[in-house]
Amino acid sequence: MSTEDDHSAPHIYVWDLPLRIMHWSLAASIVVAWLSAVVLDSLHRQAGYIAIALVALRIVWGFVGSDSSRLSRLKFLLPNAIRFLCRLMRGRTGGYVGLNPAGAVMLVASLSLTLISGISGWMQVTVRFFGVAWVQVLHTWSSYALLVLAGVHILGVVVVSVMQRQNLVVAMFTGKKRRKFPGRAYRPGKAPHSPKGA
Ligand code: HEM
Ligand code: HEM
Repeated sequence: MSTEDDHSAPHIYVWDLPLRIMHWSLAASIVVAWLSAVVLDSLHRQAGYIAIALVALRIVWGFVGSDSSRLSRLKFLLPNAIRFLCRLMRGRTGGYVGLNPAGAVMLVASLSLTLISGISGWMQVTVRFFGVAWVQVLHTWSSYALLVLAGVHILGVVVVSVMQRQNLVVAMFTGKKRRKFPGRAYRPGKAPHSPKGA
């Protein structure tokens, strides 16, 4: 599935359907796990297991999905995270069509924290680790860190949406982003899909 098929179209197809379903399901499962913690144990555990499964699926999809879903993009995006944030402060979002470098850091952190939180939660209910303090502490702190990260993630989405004058949340539902938007170019004449965006 190409993201650069029709260059004359005002929109570009960025997020494939499985990725969008995985994203919103993962967000929902984490919200349910959070809201049900300590209140509804069985719902909490089910939501946690679903979150673990969705992270596993997302990783598999990172090898077989469309361009923007590919985890191989991370090797170009992650080293540019600091430079991206410096440029963001100067009003430039760059020409990233899929995730930007800060989004790539968020992807690695959120998937890792979900796994740590989910697996440590599961460990808490096993005979081997039941009542073990460090497992409980790990579960609590990784879950809080995930909540903070989700807040930072939503803030980042709002900031870039305002700068690019396009609604990235809607794009995560429709799969399509605008081809042209303000703050796009770091320097004129560079390809919009360039992983380095510079
Ligand atoms: C805890 C809940 C959430 C997690 C773990 C999460 C995780 C992620 C991940 C991993 C991505 C990268 C997409 C990918 O390649 O898989 C992403 C992208 C995105 N997320 Fe979330 N997300 C969460 C909640 C939300 C919420 C509530 C919103 C709505 C405000 C949101 C809006 C977006 C948008 C718009 C993108 C695409 C960003 C872009 O276009 O650069 N996410 N999210
Ligand atoms: C990403 C998924 C998960 C999140 C975000 C999450 C979040 C939380 C939170 C915030 C708490 C309360 C911590 C505290 O008050 O110190 C908690 C407690 C707990 N969680 Fe999870 N959790 C997840 C997955 C799981 C899983 C998969 C299991 C087990 C199968 C599990 C089992 C537990 C248990 C046993 C407790 C202690 C409940 C109690 O004290 O009554 N969690 N979790």
